[in-house]
Amino acid sequence: MSNDTDSTLIRGHEYDGIMEYDNPTPLWWHLIWLSSMIFSVVYFFLSLESPWFVHQTQRLERAQVAEIERLFAAVGDLEGDQETIVSLMSDEQWMNYGASVFSANCTSCHGSNGGGGVGPNLTDDAYINVKTVTDIHAVIAEGANNGAMPAWGKRLHPNEIVLLSSYVASLRGKNLAGKGPEGEVIPPWPGPDQGG
Ligand code: HEC
Repeated sequence: MSNDTDSTLIRGHEYDGIMEYDNPTPLWWHLIWLSSMIFSVVYFFLSLESPWFVHQTQRLERAQVAEIERLFAAVGDLEGDQETIVSLMSDEQWMNYGASVFSANCTSCHGSNGGGGVGPNLTDDAYINVKTVTDIHAVIAEGANNGAMPAWGKRLHPNEIVLLSSYVASLRGKNLAGKGPEGEVIPPWPGPDQGG
């Protein structure tokens, strides 16, 4: 050890001729350490709250919303008539979208696959309020049974109501175990060529 060791830094402890030397970490080291701790706290709250931080999940949601807006703009306003509802039933892409709107809004009452719960089973041939595919549209838009089935007309995009109507119509015939049949068995939906 060099002779210029500052004797004021020698502590009082000695053992077997070995003395304790206080060699403090430098100020810059402490500053980096402290500031990294402060930064981590600031970063944590910023990452939760700040508009500067866009999370991957938010980015994905925004991209999905933008994609749906793009597709809706391309397709225009879908009519809630029999022809449109029936023809969309065979459109895989739109039925996937209908399924995602269904799982976000409807499964709490109609079961994860439409097999029923609080609400009736949508996979059998018996219906309470429905005789035609356009009745499905009316029930979804306006609700039924004094709001036991809520009205979705003001909560969802008009195209989403049409797509949901097709999706719900497409559930018919799956006959999933769930709630027993309610209402009356109705005639089959018209085929795609009979729409109009
Ligand atoms: C809060 C629970 C609840 C939610 C959420 C709900 N429903 Fe319903 N739904 C019901 C009930 C209850 C009925 C039966 C109404 C009646 O008895 O007339 C019903 C009836 C229906 C019917 C008519 C079935 C028939 O047999 O007449 C359709 C179609 C339907 N719902 C579709 C949907 C769709 C699509 C969604 C999501 C956008 C949805 N429901 C969300 C409770 C719900």
